[in-house]
Amino acid sequence: MRMWTRFLRMGGSATLLALALTLALADTRAVAAEEPEGQEGATQKPPPLMVQKLDAMQGALKGIATRDFAMIRENGDLMQRISLIDQWLKYPDTEYGNLTQNFRRAVENMIMSADAENLEGATLYFQNVTTTCLECHTFMREPKKQ
Ligand code: HEC
Repeated sequence: MRMWTRFLRMGGSATLLALALTLALADTRAVAAEEPEGQEGATQKPPPLMVQKLDAMQGALKGIATRDFAMIRENGDLMQRISLIDQWLKYPDTEYGNLTQNFRRAVENMIMSADAENLEGATLYFQNVTTTCLECHTFMREPKKQ
């Protein structure tokens, strides 16, 4: 907890923290509910891409909270790689592509701020990334117009 207190004193946004934590909790519940129990032939699979994406976000937040620019960059790079993997490209929808681009741009800006050791910038763009997560998820839940 002390780390968070320090983060807030450093000028980190409480809203940002609350948002990130809410997102983390909500998504963990969704994943748990999705997992079928005792599925035939189920083996140890690597964490699904979307869960890795969440891990990368948590890693970036930790980097911001501890002023660890290398950690921010590392997790930003991870997000960029994840977004390139096939699964992200399986939705040919144009709007999905746009949302992916918005996501990648926000991550790129966060990485550039980290490289410039600009903590305020990295924090701002972290918030932008969070917004693009939510925008895409909202879009995916909308009933499709035909
Ligand atoms: C461009 C679209 C897009 C963006 C941006 C996006 N996601 Fe997702 N996300 C998806 C889709 C599609 C699914 C569900 C389908 C699947 O799992 O392949 C999903 C599912 C998830 C899940 C699994 C739980 C659930 O609700 O189904 C998590 C966790 C997740 N995303 C985290 C994130 C995080 C964190 C970010 C931002 C760093 C993010 N996503 C950004 C498209 C996106």
